[in-house]
Order: sequence, then structure tokens, then C-alpha cells
Amino acid sequence: MAGFAVQPTAQAAAGDPARGEEIYHRCLACHSLEHNRVGPRHCGLFGRKAGTLEGYSYSAAMKKYGVIWNEKTLDHFLENPMKAVPGTKMGYAGIKDAQERADLIAYLKQATRDPKICH
Ligand code: HEC
Repeated sequence: MAGFAVQPTAQAAAGDPARGEEIYHRCLACHSLEHNRVGPRHCGLFGRKAGTLEGYSYSAAMKKYGVIWNEKTLDHFLENPMKAVPGTKMGYAGIKDAQERADLIAYLKQATRDPKICH
């Protein structure tokens, strides 16, 4: 956890990608940026329609969810995945803290289109 500056509270609303990278460790149990694992790969996530990555076998619920992934739709989904998409096979309780979600989404926005990781 070393190396991160403490954020002044005035900036608390903006997502901090460095903190988001730490939070993404919770997702690595099932996801990776580059490869499908238990969950679908996250490269190219922003702008992708939910449940449409080729080569990954989604639940029926995710296939018909219908949202395009962006800051807003991810924020809603990640707060409580099983409530946002009843029947999803993402067995994860969610991230209740709005600041943690903002940090995570700021990280994902960069990492999922990083040409060094996502080809
Ligand atoms: C216990 C395993 C598990 C964990 C932990 C997990 N996921 Fe998932 N995730 C899945 C599975 C399985 C799916 C596919 C869901 C479906 O088809 O219903 C999924 C789907 C998703 C999707 C939809 C992707 C798409 O292509 O439409 C997003 C976004 C997502 N996860 C983000 C996250 C993030 C961010 C975290 C960490 C906060 C996380 N997940 C943690 C298993 C997990």
C-alpha cells in the first residue's frame, strides 16, 4: 500500500486510478484485463454492450441486460451486481463505497484501453 499520496478531501469525488488499481485486486479472483477467466476479459470494456464479448459464455440475464458500459452504467452495476442484473452469474456482493467505485472506474477507463495490455 506504500506510495500513494493521501487525497485531500476536496478532491474526494474524482476517481483516483492509482487507488482504483488496488481495488481492482478484488476483481482479479475472477477477471483479468487480457483474458477470459471465470468472468469475461475487461479489455475494451468501455463502449461495449453488456454480455456481447465473443467467445465468453454469459448468463441469459447479462445477455439481455442491454446497457453500454460507461462510467454511469458501471457505477450502477458494481454497487450491487446481483440486484442490478438479477440472475447474473457474477457472484459478487458489490462495492458499496461510492468513492471506491469512482476510483475503480477511473482505473478501468485507462487500463481497459492501454495498448500495452490490450491488443
Ligand atoms: C466471483 C467472481 C467474480 C468477481 C469477484 C467479479 N466478477 Fe465480474 N463477472 C463475473 C462473471 C461470472 C461475469 C459474467 C456475468 C454473467 O454472464 O451474468 C462477470 C461480468 C462482469 C462484467 C460484465 C462484462 C461484460 O462483458 O458485459 C463487468 C463489467 C464486471 N464483471 C466487472 C467486475 C469488476 C469491476 C469486479 C471487481 C469489483 C468484478 N467484476 C468482480 C465474475 C466475477
